[in-house]
Amino acid sequence: MTKRKQIVAGNWKMNMDYEQGRDLTKAVIDGLQPSDALVILGTPFIHLRNVASIIKDISNLKLAAQNCHQEESGAYTGEVSASMLKSCGVEYVILGHSERREYFGEKDELIAKKIDAVLGQGMEPIYCCGEKLDVRESGKQNELVAEQVKTALFHLSAEDLQKVVIAYEPVWAIGTGKTASPAQAQEMHAHIRSLIRDQYGAEIADSITILYGGSVKPGNAKELFANPDVDGGLIGGASLKAADFNAIVDSF
Ligand code: G3P
Repeated sequence: MTKRKQIVAGNWKMNMDYEQGRDLTKAVIDGLQPSDALVILGTPFIHLRNVASIIKDISNLKLAAQNCHQEESGAYTGEVSASMLKSCGVEYVILGHSERREYFGEKDELIAKKIDAVLGQGMEPIYCCGEKLDVRESGKQNELVAEQVKTALFHLSAEDLQKVVIAYEPVWAIGTGKTASPAQAQEMHAHIRSLIRDQYGAEIADSITILYGGSVKPGNAKELFANPDVDGGLIGGASLKAADFNAIVDSF
């Protein structure tokens, strides 16, 4: 089995003006220790070109956008296409984040089209899935996440699926400080991997990187990442402080 990529990806969300983003990127680089992990900075659109130029000589530091439109061009005022992101040096695109689902009504049928657009430009999607608190409390999280994964990903060829990073982000853990327990994270990651195994086979399933997101901090990252099916994290709040983000990178 090829060793799965370990990844720590930061999701800055809607934070940092131009200078702050430049300074945060330089602070992350200054504090980055040698690591086998891939480190990704997921920035707002305004930072992409500048961050791409700042990080270009750091081999394990890559750039992600936080969304893109599903069409390549046209009358979609305010939108940004996958080819535009590619032209800025973007290599990964976060798609289907729960905040996009909540505030912009994104459904998995649309996210599937965005995934196709990103793959079509030779970039790698970071596909976000996860349940809300009421679903968790009713014990239906496995069914919900299975529906998300199948709708957004199972139209892909095995070759394309291997280019997708999956991020399990229980909505009740995002920004709340209520991190999923390592056992909860491991259980859901194993469930997602079993879905892929049933559809695509064991070799493909074992090659897919599955990240955990939802209140990952320097104090809990090591225990989360120690689980066999947790391949790293998608980091929100803690990615806005270079010392915390780099401490999470050092948690493998
Ligand atoms: O995409 C990652 C994000 O949703 C997690 O946010 O602040 O709980 O780490 P946070």
